[in-house]
Amino acid sequence: MDLFSSLNPDDPVDQHSARKEILALRDTLNQHAHSYYVLDAPSVPDAEYDRLFRRLEHLERLYPELLDPNSPTQRVGGAPIDAFESHRHAVPMLSLKTETDSESSGAENFDTRIRKELNLEASAPLVEYLAELKFDGLAMNIRYEDGKLVRATTRGDGEYGEDVTHNIRTIAQIPLELKILDPKALTHASIPKVLEVRGEVYMRQDDFQKLNERQRERIAKGAKGERTFVNPRNAAAGAVRQLDPRIAAERPLSFFAYGVGEVIWFAAYNAQASAGGAQTSQDSQGRQDLSSIFKTHKSLLDCLKAFGFPVDEHAELVKGATGLVSYHQRMGQLRRTLPFDIDGVVYKLNDTALQQKLGFITREPKWAVAHKYPAQEELTTVLAIEVQVGRTGKLTPVAKLAPVFVGGVTVTNATLHNQDEAQRKDVRVGDTVIVRRAGDVIPEVVGVLLDKRVGDPQPFQMPSNCPVCQSLALREEGEADYRCTGGLFCAAQRKQAFLHFAQRKALNIEDLGEKLVDQLVDTGAIKTLPDMYRLGLSALVALDRMAEKSASNVLRSIENSKSTTLARFLFGLGIRHVGETTAKDLAKHFGSIDAIIQASEEELLSVKDVGPVVASSVRTFFDQAHNVEVVNQLRACGVSWVESDRSAGPAALPLSGKTFVITGTLSRFAREELKEKLESLGAKVASSVSAKTTALIAGESAGSKLSKAQELGVQVLGEEDIDSLLSVG
Ligand code: IVH
Repeated sequence: MDLFSSLNPDDPVDQHSARKEILALRDTLNQHAHSYYVLDAPSVPDAEYDRLFRRLEHLERLYPELLDPNSPTQRVGGAPIDAFESHRHAVPMLSLKTETDSESSGAENFDTRIRKELNLEASAPLVEYLAELKFDGLAMNIRYEDGKLVRATTRGDGEYGEDVTHNIRTIAQIPLELKILDPKALTHASIPKVLEVRGEVYMRQDDFQKLNERQRERIAKGAKGERTFVNPRNAAAGAVRQLDPRIAAERPLSFFAYGVGEVIWFAAYNAQASAGGAQTSQDSQGRQDLSSIFKTHKSLLDCLKAFGFPVDEHAELVKGATGLVSYHQRMGQLRRTLPFDIDGVVYKLNDTALQQKLGFITREPKWAVAHKYPAQEELTTVLAIEVQVGRTGKLTPVAKLAPVFVGGVTVTNATLHNQDEAQRKDVRVGDTVIVRRAGDVIPEVVGVLLDKRVGDPQPFQMPSNCPVCQSLALREEGEADYRCTGGLFCAAQRKQAFLHFAQRKALNIEDLGEKLVDQLVDTGAIKTLPDMYRLGLSALVALDRMAEKSASNVLRSIENSKSTTLARFLFGLGIRHVGETTAKDLAKHFGSIDAIIQASEEELLSVKDVGPVVASSVRTFFDQAHNVEVVNQLRACGVSWVESDRSAGPAALPLSGKTFVITGTLSRFAREELKEKLESLGAKVASSVSAKTTALIAGESAGSKLSKAQELGVQVLGEEDIDSLLSVG
């Protein structure tokens, strides 16, 4: 690098020294690019890289005869081509058999088959495999002759592929010239005569998002012929199949090497494997025996890495079926955190001589398989677009889909979020769409396959009235959502309000599920929140499929919910913008529901983390007399909560300074709930009994903690004592 540091990019230079300098510059730039793009560890500041790059450009302009298609300056994309040329692969590009999970795991099936093919006795040692990720992109064959990239071809039909060299050159991670970057990793440090590197061209998730963002901007500015892409794989395929390499150069592609095609290496890489080390031998079908060069698949990957190719770091040597099963599971977990898409894992017999022995059937090797994960994306059709009404009246368009198994579950609905989003995706009834469900994420419609649209279906339009109560639906300025203006008049909002009140984080009415609420609201048995506490056995038993036993369970869980905390109660009321945390903050600050009801917007604003939106929403809620009435009626029905005195510090709380331990099974309380109540009264709840413990609260089948308490003479309370303990406030 010192060689260039004193040079001004425009310094004059004769042809002879220019040649020397150009070669040195290319080398240096290639090394920096490798550090940056492959190792993800930049070795020089960007400005320095740019300076060297400009100098190289300058010299190449001065001496065009010294230009080389493999110069780093040529990555930006050369002239467009008219059509792709078809090219025959020197060694066919195979595909992989997919192993499926039936009665046993696909990994076990593969190991069993391999052991059988290799005639291994049950007592023979475990077979060694190299397990890799199965990248979701496009297979590519990149050919180097005398160390220079000469051609890149797609897989095509396995025998003939398309020449896409002009685009592949633009991928910064792919070396244009082979250089031995890590001689220690090679036993014979020489450049092969011919090396075909095989691997996957793909697009990272973040690059894909950025690309689509840019495409959207272009479309918004009125650019013609631009489009967004449905997933990274499509975007990558589109880039690889560009006739104009300048467009490909703008699309950020990445590469992982996972194998080789033809290899001719005069000085063999693997000294042990081959004494003479000439060209690899070929079998009767013209396929070469790689084992004379690479003893193992692992050493092949190490070699590719030493030549500067990106090799995924999740590749792992594993032993036997258990090793494969564990890899499949671990990578399945990791899948959602990876920066790129995978659709499974690949198992390869590590020993290349054994690979050779097993050979191929049709177009698939017998020594490797793909073990897939449930697809995260599938195609299906849109049967209808319905509009659902949420608790706060929000109208959400939902695509009703022909059932499709994706991401491990059957999906029949996917949210379209709101009018703008539905319009942007332009999903219409009858459309063929891509549905995606990754990990535990809610399924979504990724995009429409426009060329499959039949006829001219109507674009989606949000209705002007609520589909449930027919009240006007309005969209306020600056808001993304349309809302039903019906409030609790709207049965849909009422149902959601009950469910919100009853949820675990609020009043925790365990047995009040969606189906029951539907019936209770539809039959008119409950209209407002307090109605729930007025339900009798007969009203419940009158409902569909409600036996007396379950009815009394429901009543019991309603009864149990009566004793709660102020924060839960406040959250349960469903005031817009008052989530669990805000409810806790408000409860802590004001200490009683009456103080909150009376608080001015200004007072509300003085609460930690409460801003104008929350303050105004709380005020508006309690300004409506019927909401205050709901609170009063709930109190009259016996709902009570622990209200702490806000002016007093923790020392003033009734159970301050006391430590409790809870053990065994309690029938009337969830342990977490009891803990919260005790803490709101100032007590500490510890996990083990010590001499400092005030009392042990022991439920059914209490064990070692009970004996410890007895041993230490710590007071033991039963479930029946809890009420009086909690009423001290
Ligand atoms: S090995 C002889 N390894 O999966 C084995 N393929 O049908 C040839 N793929 O189109 C393939 N990740 O593009 C191999 N780690 C990996 C892979 C991988 C993705 C793709 C490959 C091919 C398909 C196999």
